[in-house]
Amino acid sequence: MGKSIGILTAGGDSPGLNAAIRAIGKAAIRTHDMNVVGFRDGFRGLMQQRFVRLDSDTLSGILTKGGTILGTSREKPHKMDIGGKVMDMTDVMLENFASVGLDALICLGGGGTAKNALRLSEKGMPVLTLPKTIDNDVWGTEATFGFDTALGIATEAIDRLHSTAHSHHRIIVVEVMGHNTGWLALGSGLAGGADVILIPEIPYSVEAISQSILDRKTAGSTFSIVVVSEGAVSAPERQRMEELTTGIAATQGETDALEHELAALEAAQAKSTDRLAHRLEELTGLEARVTILGHVQRGGTPSPVDRLLATRLGTAAVELVDQGVSGVMVGVRGDVAVPVPLSDVAGKRKTVPDDHPWIHVARSLDVGFGDEGS
Ligand code: F6P
Repeated sequence: MGKSIGILTAGGDSPGLNAAIRAIGKAAIRTHDMNVVGFRDGFRGLMQQRFVRLDSDTLSGILTKGGTILGTSREKPHKMDIGGKVMDMTDVMLENFASVGLDALICLGGGGTAKNALRLSEKGMPVLTLPKTIDNDVWGTEATFGFDTALGIATEAIDRLHSTAHSHHRIIVVEVMGHNTGWLALGSGLAGGADVILIPEIPYSVEAISQSILDRKTAGSTFSIVVVSEGAVSAPERQRMEELTTGIAATQGETDALEHELAALEAAQAKSTDRLAHRLEELTGLEARVTILGHVQRGGTPSPVDRLLATRLGTAAVELVDQGVSGVMVGVRGDVAVPVPLSDVAGKRKTVPDDHPWIHVARSLDVGFGDEGS
């Protein structure tokens, strides 16, 4: 028998997770005669030693399934809720890893998972990660699996909203996920022909958005589609958030009031799409409606592109385990799967740069971003 591998899925689920589990399992069993187990519900399963053996039967028929057959959670090894107390459980995980007789652990997750994996790796556990998230915001890889599927779902929704916006001469404000990055909003907005795209990387002014909509009206278009990323903020909100963050850092401990204000601002921002639509109605005189796509973007069958990426990265991870490589995320650059040190990935986020070609394309089509460049 070859080496033994553990797999876990952590963070929000993402289409393509099962395709990756299948690829890791099949390549490990068929090519390297390895033993494979899957831990339930992310790092909590590793802490509680809850795992299943993954064999040809369990791995069969899961390629096209959404979600993760293993279950997932957002729990962090060093901050686990143990009966109401937050505890560092990394040492327990190291013990469990050894007692199950594993040679490597492959964690499928996003940026947060890379951070958690790095912690375990620094304590001596041979860990690798694969980048999954619909947000596409993992540093060190050109793509993450899950993004393409969510892009398809969001684009289809925008297509459907177009016809109803057109019929009723309305503004439709459609909120997509993406956390603090605008990849999903920008990609689906471009693919779906949005008139305005709001992303966290470009703080907006409501007046500039309404001007874009009024300009369209003057040119004869009495409807508009505004795609807004869940993390998008107005320029004044962004400025205040930055002031508060700087203030909190500078006052070291004496910061309750500032922390409360920041938390309140962030909570209000999380519900800002309705407010935005209401304000656009006031400023343009057009009727507005809101659609929040939410978790529908994470559900269902993965696209062929995501299946392919997950399969490529999964098999590459097994090759690396076979070679004794660990402490890396298996990212993708063009056609090649590349190991990227976890210490380079953890704590960073891949945001949309100002000069990204998609931004350039959108601006040349006169898509508004609610900023001065619009
Ligand atoms: O990271 C994926 C993601 O779907 C983000 O786009 C979103 O902000 C978040 O997860 C939602 O998290 P939850 O599933 O915990 O509501």
